[in-house]
Amino acid sequence: MAVTARPKLDPQQLRADFPIFEQTVNGKPLSYLDSAVTSQKPRQVLDALRTFYETSYGNVHRGVYYLSERSTEAYEGAREKVRAFVNAPSSREIVFTRGATEGLNLVAYAWGLDNLGPGDVVIVTELEHHSNFVPWQYIASRTGASFRMLRLTEDGELDLSGLDTLGSEGDVKVVATNLVSNSLGTVNPVERLSRWAHERGAIMVVDAAQAAPHRAIDVQVLDCDFLAFSSHKMCGPTSVGALWGRAELLNAMEPFNLGGHMIRRVTVEKTTWGELPHKFEAGTAPIAEAVGFGAAIDYVSAVGLEAIEAHEHELTVYALERLSELPGLVLYGPPPERRAGIISFNVEGIHPHDVAQVLDLEGVAIRAGHHCCQPLMDRLGVVATNRASFYLYTLPEEIDRLVDGLKRVREILG
Ligand SMILES: Cc1ncc(COP(=O)(O)O)c(C=O)c1O
Repeated sequence: MAVTARPKLDPQQLRADFPIFEQTVNGKPLSYLDSAVTSQKPRQVLDALRTFYETSYGNVHRGVYYLSERSTEAYEGAREKVRAFVNAPSSREIVFTRGATEGLNLVAYAWGLDNLGPGDVVIVTELEHHSNFVPWQYIASRTGASFRMLRLTEDGELDLSGLDTLGSEGDVKVVATNLVSNSLGTVNPVERLSRWAHERGAIMVVDAAQAAPHRAIDVQVLDCDFLAFSSHKMCGPTSVGALWGRAELLNAMEPFNLGGHMIRRVTVEKTTWGELPHKFEAGTAPIAEAVGFGAAIDYVSAVGLEAIEAHEHELTVYALERLSELPGLVLYGPPPERRAGIISFNVEGIHPHDVAQVLDLEGVAIRAGHHCCQPLMDRLGVVATNRASFYLYTLPEEIDRLVDGLKRVREILG
């Protein structure tokens, strides 16, 4: 039987692309284990931004002059890169947003306000980031729809056995979930949820903020209706992201933001809207940011999403093994087969912020807090956790430094 080798990446070699790693922190090598909150940027993306500003910058879709045409070409080229990255049928279905949060708000407001009402049910999960929880909770309360939460198993996975009860509480109109949880790293069964949602005539909304940087995404395989993600978590600039939505839904929706660029004709009596995707891109676009986002897509695609996923899986297995050697350390979340490169934990008796501060003295950057998942923290019975997260440039040595740092935390804080 032929054995196909899993694609491999060389994190040490990739690290050389990231100027930020050339520095030390507190005299120690920088161990950046907080990529889930935002990723570092490679030279290729920084160079693309500089080159764009130096050679092609102008406003898009406005001018008939050379620079505007070049700028428009680069901006629309980036849209096509996003389309290919998620295998969307058409680039008209790709809306540039400020990030995942704006994309999810766009759907909640522009779809939800006109399609939800009393008797309808909106389902989110106990694992949601606030950006896919609060907009739905708010729009449900504005429209009179019921807002319900699919609970978790003890392992931190979605308890799908709860679906039928939720489904019996009314007319399910929205199922909203992340593909990968930013707190526990859980990889969620979106295809199954899409099927369940569609059987009931509901839309499936996917928050892919933690998935897009780390694994290949195909909206046609996921069979969802909307999918949102951010550039800054995948080697690109801040303040830009993308929302993919089915053209028939986007076409039927009212705009979210109003103003320049998104109109067809404005008179005192009436304004009509531009075509997709411009209808949803009011105001001056994040032009250079979108071009940088396109460069980031080129970068992670050249490394290879499968190789990134495999690398992070190895790191996760290693980290879970090493962390479980430490006494008094509580680990949250599912086994490595069903989780991405994100590990939440607590050191018994020590507040997560104190843990993170001592680790910083060792040059190790991890996150401490509720990770914008307060309902999940309530479920875990904690106010906060520590979280280490990995990316294509993460080295096993950084995990060793985390483990050594945690031993130091015990020595210092007891
Ligand atoms: C799962 C998840 N969804 C949404 C977001 C929001 O992303 P952004 O702040 O880039 O809009 C984050 C950011 O941490 C996230 O982890």
